[in-house]
Amino acid sequence: MRLDVVILAAGKGTRMNSDIPKVMHRIAGKPMVEHVVDCASILKADAVHLVVGHGAEIIEQHFADYESAEGLSGDAIQFVCQEQQLGTGHAVQQAMPNIPACDDEDRVLVLYGDVPLLSHETLLELIEASHGSALGVLTLFTQNPEGLGRIVRDADHKLQAIVEEKDATESQRGINEVNSGILVASSNRMKDWLSRLGNENAQGEYYLTDIVAMAVADGMTVESITTGDEYEVQGVNDKLQLCVLERHYQMIQAQGLLATGVTVMDPTRVDIRGDLSYGKDLSLDINVLIEGKVVIGNGVTIGANCIVKDATLGNGVTLLPGTIVDGAIIGEHAVIGPYARLRPGTVLEESVKVGNFVETKKAHIGKGSKANHLAYIGDAEVGSGVNIGAGTIFCNYDGANKHLTTLGNDVFVGSNSVLVAPVELADGVFVAAGSVVNCNVPAANLAVARTKQRNIAGWKRPTKTAVKKD
Ligand code: UD1
Ligand code: MG
Repeated sequence: MRLDVVILAAGKGTRMNSDIPKVMHRIAGKPMVEHVVDCASILKADAVHLVVGHGAEIIEQHFADYESAEGLSGDAIQFVCQEQQLGTGHAVQQAMPNIPACDDEDRVLVLYGDVPLLSHETLLELIEASHGSALGVLTLFTQNPEGLGRIVRDADHKLQAIVEEKDATESQRGINEVNSGILVASSNRMKDWLSRLGNENAQGEYYLTDIVAMAVADGMTVESITTGDEYEVQGVNDKLQLCVLERHYQMIQAQGLLATGVTVMDPTRVDIRGDLSYGKDLSLDINVLIEGKVVIGNGVTIGANCIVKDATLGNGVTLLPGTIVDGAIIGEHAVIGPYARLRPGTVLEESVKVGNFVETKKAHIGKGSKANHLAYIGDAEVGSGVNIGAGTIFCNYDGANKHLTTLGNDVFVGSNSVLVAPVELADGVFVAAGSVVNCNVPAANLAVARTKQRNIAGWKRPTKTAVKKD
């Protein structure tokens, strides 16, 4: 059996009030349409067809360097342009010429680019349930069917038709089983049905949903399954719906963390926008944001208001409140923060301490080294057992190029020093506080690079001169 997935993503999304095409708005940091493509990839679809219209270039561009966990690459996605949005049936029709249908078993699955939370389990169930029938539809029971297509069944509960609200009779409007919009059909049959679609209806559109009545007229049974999860089939038309799905998605993720033993201080105040893997005894305080690919070992504590992006945190790492980690690798038992910022290319070995208002970038810092307060460490190779005093600046930029600063083991840099790169301080060097070091320092030397202090005896402070008022 061949499976082609057609994703409808041509709509403008007027109510989003945005220059960005609707399906590119994000849930958990990822465009809605990418969630849907990921789902198709999990299903091991033989081909994914994206029907685009409004903002087509933006969507195509986004997928240029796409690669799913299952190995679906962006080049494998077939983009079909629907110039005018003449209806869901018309949209699917645009993709059909690219879909081979040699075998009667071949299936086409229709998904919507603005229905981001659909699960692959539900889709597998739908594909399974409709095996042997020409058509399978995913439905939902809802208390609020407004605007949705109603599922019309006969006395034997067999699916007869889907009627759009605008075309429905009074009694049909009372039906609370609705069309999710998701369906799977025989590719062969789909080609035939779509070629016969008309647009004589209240909206003057080519309705995909009309294929249900066609299948019944052709003497075929139409299967259906029902999802109990309203969020799963919820489409997004405006920012409120986007926000509702975002919060739902985040709550599900937080519950997943709790279920696997993570301590989460408040599940409404942790957001994961990416892939998080973790060991035992992870603790997340309030307002933690995880982005990109984050790998966390055992016994890690993340304090309040931390952002951790594309990072690896070894066993026993502690991030104190307000710390931002981006593109860094943190070794076991390191303690970072509060209010530290680790930027891309930071590699910290075991038991490193980085304290408040310290910024690092492209810095490799050896075992047990410390920068406890107010420092900038950029483009640096730092050995083990080093102490970097408060106010130390690694002066890495000459206005045109970046240069490297190298510190050996057990170096002590006194407070308020500037290390002007390129410069090398060998093992055991001691830098006097307030020094500007711009020459290499040999091992175990004391570097003093500041003006000598003068004490002036008997010096008189200036006094205020009296000002006469008129
Ligand atoms: C559709 C269904 C309705 C179902 C509802 C579920 C039809 C006729 N109706 O209605 O039964 O209950 O979804 O949300 O199918 N699109 C295109 N090109 C087009 C038209 C639509 O790409 O020409 C895309 C839209 O961008 C959207 C999706 O298809 O992602 C659904 O279209 P929409 O206009 O929202 O359909 P509804 O009227 O809501
Ligand atoms: Mg809709």
